[in-house]
Amino acid sequence: MRTSLDDRLQSEIEGFKRDGVYKRLLELQGPQGARVKMAGRGEVIVLSSNNYLGLCAVPEVVEAGRSALVRLGAGTGSVRFICGTFDVHNELERELASFLRFERALSYVSCWNANTGLMATVLDEPDALISDEMNHASIIDGVRLCKAPRHRYRHSDMADLERILKETASARHRFVITDGIFSMEGDIARLPDLVALCERHRATLAVDDSHATGVLGRTGRGTPEHFGLEGKVDILTGTLGKALGGAAGGFTCGTDPLVEYLVQRSRPQLFSNALPPTVAASALASVRYLAKHPERVQALHENTRYFREQLLAIGLKPVPGDTPIVPVILGETSKAIRMSELLLKEGVFVTGFGFPVVPQGQARIRCQVSAAHTKQDLDEALSTIKKVAAKLALI
Ligand SMILES: Cc1ncc(COP(=O)(O)O)c(C=O)c1O
Repeated sequence: MRTSLDDRLQSEIEGFKRDGVYKRLLELQGPQGARVKMAGRGEVIVLSSNNYLGLCAVPEVVEAGRSALVRLGAGTGSVRFICGTFDVHNELERELASFLRFERALSYVSCWNANTGLMATVLDEPDALISDEMNHASIIDGVRLCKAPRHRYRHSDMADLERILKETASARHRFVITDGIFSMEGDIARLPDLVALCERHRATLAVDDSHATGVLGRTGRGTPEHFGLEGKVDILTGTLGKALGGAAGGFTCGTDPLVEYLVQRSRPQLFSNALPPTVAASALASVRYLAKHPERVQALHENTRYFREQLLAIGLKPVPGDTPIVPVILGETSKAIRMSELLLKEGVFVTGFGFPVVPQGQARIRCQVSAAHTKQDLDEALSTIKKVAAKLALI
């Protein structure tokens, strides 16, 4: 039965539509790849996916999930500590830790859970939790759940961070958390400065490398490898839902005591089922694939360089950077939505983002490049972008 709550929600939804911020869920009818079959549209070029290495549809990754389904069944039937830990979870965690060069790793059903299950578990009132203002929503919610006093520094502003580190000198532990790659801008955290500051002030440094694992560094070991700072980040969280197979799942890497403490006390571990074995097996196959195929990461870097250069050549100004997240700022939300609609009509799938996901006046289309794209895919997408940009008088 509909209540006054439904009436209010419906009227707000109508407002989203009027303001041009209503999100339509487009239905895909085939595997994620450089191109995908979309209901009502046929095949479209995908520039809107976190499938950075194209591993979603790699036969080894798919087959690993299928055989785990047959061997281990559809689900865990329980949380980890009751009877939900399977051999595939332990193997995945060992191999992830070894690949990312940490002592130990722990899987979660999402990086959302990894982040919300981290800070509230290891910090308390005597501590200080210090977060970049542009951090991902899962970190923001993780901060909200934590009892430690919160501090937010201006985006990548190291002077502001140092000010807070000085002000919180009397805290028991200071814990600094940042995205590795920031998902809306595509910029990279200033890791050398963050490491130096955290060392100088004896603070713990945690990096959420969800968009960077498999993406940054010559062999895809993320932001630490990109800067030659492996071993210098204390805690790394990440997702299995982007470059590492793109299914779902997350993880936290750290020292043995940290991870053991999370096993004992992290609430999403204790009160929510473990990662389904099929998903864990596909993620494990992805980690193995990545370890054996660093050329896939290099293909991603090459595609990114090419796509960014060609966008500039057609007269658009992507936010400068080196990552496969390539935003083009258009200003008004309605413009970004209009551009993504026109692109989709022409067979290119790019999502437009407006306020409140990004600040007012900075609405954008966000293109994401993948190693799965061939040069032909990218050229076709670029020529469509050029046509649509000209139609909208952007170039
Ligand atoms: C930086 C960052 N952290 C965490 C997440 C959440 O990851 P998951 O989909 O595994 O919950 C995302 C996903 O968008 C992200 O971009």
